[in-house]
Amino acid sequence: MRKNIVAGNWKMNKNLQEGVALAAELKEKVSNPNCDVIIGTPFIHLATVAELLKDSPIAVAAENCADHTSGAYTGEVSAEMVASTGATYCIIGHSERRTYYGETYEILREKVQLALANNLRPIFCIGEVKEEREANRQNEVVKAQLEGSVFNLSAEEFGKLVIAYEPVWAIGTGLTATPEQAQEIHAYIRSLIAEKYGNEVADNTSILYGGSCNAKNAVGLFANPDIDGGLIGGASLKADDFCAIISAF
Ligand code: 13P
Repeated sequence: MRKNIVAGNWKMNKNLQEGVALAAELKEKVSNPNCDVIIGTPFIHLATVAELLKDSPIAVAAENCADHTSGAYTGEVSAEMVASTGATYCIIGHSERRTYYGETYEILREKVQLALANNLRPIFCIGEVKEEREANRQNEVVKAQLEGSVFNLSAEEFGKLVIAYEPVWAIGTGLTATPEQAQEIHAYIRSLIAEKYGNEVADNTSILYGGSCNAKNAVGLFANPDIDGGLIGGASLKADDFCAIISAF
């Protein structure tokens, strides 16, 4: 059966020393969690943090990877480079990357494929913006995002993905989807996966909720059958806040 997961996404926060200190604190405080724990860090932290957390229950994710294998792409970091640090996951398709860096369905398709080719498990993010939710278009938006970038995968490849539903209107805003809203769309996402890949793949896919998730609302969200954990931004930047969310399981 699918795993429960609490994953952090530090985004563009923490310099190297601060990031290493946070990872060390988490290593100390996270023991025998009732779920898988992942922290997503900026590229510069990956090698040090992955080494530090080698013998801990915490896995490490990159927040992005390049859409090319290697070569003359100044400033980019390939999936192979990410994997060589010891990171085992890669966040792909975060709404901030789609919005600010023009990441299209096609670009994300490449990134997912390169991550998988390098044995990284993609944490693939989908979710609608406020206007789309207000127009009740959230279902068609997440369907298009899945069809555009990951439904080209084989069932075996898709089985390596973690899906994160992150309504853009809830990210960093303090607004959270209600447990009912989140459960409803998570169930819909799982039904789309079942339609495409069958019930077994759908049942085994972890679908995380992201968007102003904190220790207070995590319990109510995670109690739902189709919400398998969270992708946490702001509340992953303090060890105690992040640990409190892990304890929701
Ligand atoms: P916040 O938890 O800060 O709303 O961010 C959510 C997010 O974008 C995680 O990827």
